[in-house]
Amino acid sequence: MIENRREILEWYLCAGVDECCDEVPFALQSSQKQSEPSVRPAGQASAAVAAARPATTDLAQASLDARKSARELCSKAASLEELKKLVEDFDGCALKLTAMHTVFGDGSPNARIVFIGEAPGADEDRQGRPFVGRSGHLLDKMLAASGLKREECYITNILPWRPPGHRTPLDSEIAVCLPFLQRQIELIKPDFLFLLGGSAANAVLDCAESISRLRGHWLDYKTSDGKSIQALASFHPAYLLRNSGQKAKAWADMLRLKKQL
Ligand code: URA
Repeated sequence: MIENRREILEWYLCAGVDECCDEVPFALQSSQKQSEPSVRPAGQASAAVAAARPATTDLAQASLDARKSARELCSKAASLEELKKLVEDFDGCALKLTAMHTVFGDGSPNARIVFIGEAPGADEDRQGRPFVGRSGHLLDKMLAASGLKREECYITNILPWRPPGHRTPLDSEIAVCLPFLQRQIELIKPDFLFLLGGSAANAVLDCAESISRLRGHWLDYKTSDGKSIQALASFHPAYLLRNSGQKAKAWADMLRLKKQL
């Protein structure tokens, strides 16, 4: 039973509702006096309400503030350990409220390759480590088959917290958490990024191209201090588990990476 307003707002955020379109929830309007129409006729939105509505809602503003605060915090982290602690203590993303663990990146701080996925799944949330479930097992097999050692790479996600019910992350959640990923990349200074799936590719490369079009090409990622890192996008292991016919293309991408190494 949801008992207070904060819990209701948190519940909405978890469900992906991060903006209001009117002052009064529509469900409440039906309990208004019988004489009042329960739904305002189209085109009759009160001018006073429209004028009073702020340009950005409180929640949107909170999300912008959280992103700014994440950026500022990150710039203070001089090592991965410091950054991990900052992420664990960060309260600007509502996903943390429903997650069991903060799943920070894992692997060598001197890795030449950083693998980036979308968000922890149920297994990762339980264990607090990225890519330890079914997708992780497939990734491990692909690494082993191409002669790469998992412990010599660095594996992370764009989000350190699991979205509830395995839902797709919201743009606002990605925007708030992206500085954490960007700082991990700056601290590790890898030679290559390997982007697992469309969400990771779009977030890291700041584009909206489909993964089918992005994959298989070397692309350029610029760090905030202007350094270039070669990035290769490929299909997400979870997608490969559902679409085994695409494994050959993902394998070709792993070989592209191996060749470049
Ligand atoms: N899928 C991801 O994108 N990341 C994980 O860590 C696990 C599954």
